[in-house]
Amino acid sequence: MTMTPQQIELVKSTVPVLRENGVTLTSYFYKRMLSNNPDLKNVFNMDSQTSGRQPRALAAAVLAYAEHIENPAALAKAVERMTTKHVSLDIQPDQYSIVGENLLHSISEVLDVPFESDLIEAWKQAYLQLADILIGVEKQKYQALAAKEGGWAGWRGFEIANIENSDAGQLFTVKASDQQATIPAVAGQFISVKVKVPGHDLHQPHQFVLSNDQDQTYQFLVKPEENRTEFSVSNILLDHYAVGDRVELSAPLSK
Ligand code: HEM
Repeated sequence: MTMTPQQIELVKSTVPVLRENGVTLTSYFYKRMLSNNPDLKNVFNMDSQTSGRQPRALAAAVLAYAEHIENPAALAKAVERMTTKHVSLDIQPDQYSIVGENLLHSISEVLDVPFESDLIEAWKQAYLQLADILIGVEKQKYQALAAKEGGWAGWRGFEIANIENSDAGQLFTVKASDQQATIPAVAGQFISVKVKVPGHDLHQPHQFVLSNDQDQTYQFLVKPEENRTEFSVSNILLDHYAVGDRVELSAPLSK
């Protein structure tokens, strides 16, 4: 459904208030979403959660989109960046309705307007437009990855084949558990690695940069994180993972 000029005006006129209350908006949004959908704790990085970086990034992107709603092409670069990140984390279309619902409730809360109102309906249309764009681009990226020789979309099981100590950290080498081909990767591309968090019924993903041009195995350097928490993927890998253990990887992507 295309937005009416009135809806566009409603959305644009409330962006400044939402931006001013950005911290309230994002913290309310995340708390609400994660308490209603605890499964998503496996998707979001609980580390950056705490620092609030990610919640701000998502809401800020929605607000930026709303500002440029008559000229979405202005956001092409941002769309490229968001969709690359999302694809590396296996974000799926059905998750957009969860984010949307929680975001709209948060907007209604911060602006102190009823959920059933023209204003929230206008924001809903704006969100749906952006979600459609992202879902469409992500679908193409998943298809392109799956179509490559040795490629895959989403997560794939890998085994830790070697761990080498170095001054900078530990160099992990991983190979696909199914012994099948994997896409050749170029140094500087990145992958997401998903691990089980010890002592929690929880998985956490984190991105690592690949070290060399690689064929059939991938290598990445794991450095201890300074502000470590029990959810720090690097520290979990360094402290709890050994050769032979299994992790999950998303396919190599360029930033
Ligand atoms: C219109 C909706 C959405 C917008 C505008 C949006 C925007 C963003 C932005 C700007 C980033 C940061 C990108 C970067 O680091 O370069 C991000 C990352 C991320 N998004 Fe989204 N996103 C949306 C929907 C979703 C959905 C549906 C999910 C899954 C439930 C999701 C999960 C994530 C995750 C897990 C990250 C990485 C966060 C981290 O670093 O832990 N996003 N998103």
